[in-house]
Amino acid sequence: MERTLVLLKPDAVQRGLIGTILARFESKGLKLVGLKMRTFDRALLEQHYEVHKERPFYASLVEFMSSGPVVALCLEGKDAIAVVRTLVGKTNAREAAPGTIRGDFGMSFSNNLVHASDGEDTAEFELGLWFADSAELSDWNPADLEWRYSVKEELA
Ligand code: CMP
Repeated sequence: MERTLVLLKPDAVQRGLIGTILARFESKGLKLVGLKMRTFDRALLEQHYEVHKERPFYASLVEFMSSGPVVALCLEGKDAIAVVRTLVGKTNAREAAPGTIRGDFGMSFSNNLVHASDGEDTAEFELGLWFADSAELSDWNPADLEWRYSVKEELA
């Protein structure tokens, strides 16, 4: 099983889309392992977006992400990183395919509703940052886990 970080950005919160977006991940079969909501400080956002430090949109991105409440999620599942990226869609929401979260709910490049880790190393780094206290992550087994996956092929 793999874990990934998802952020529901201030635009998703302001537009009342937390439940709708969360439902996409839950109904797909991903397991919610961590969830918290607050206005996070700039220092955390600067670390999170360190990789974009030299990009022209870096300052406004950090400003936007620290401007209001964000919901941070840790999701778990087989190939969770790739599965979540597929559900989220292309970065520019105007180009994102219908059926994806950005494709169905967004019109912006910057206000693109969701952030999702883009690889194994990134997920490890980002989860360490946003859920540094492992007590904030719940290890639990959905009662229907053996129906979400093939026991013989995927849970052995
Ligand atoms: P996210 O997945 O959070 O990762 C980096 C973010 O930077 C991205 O989503 C966008 O919100 C933003 N971003 C990336 N490229 C651009 C761009 N060219 N112009 C504006 N914002 C961008």
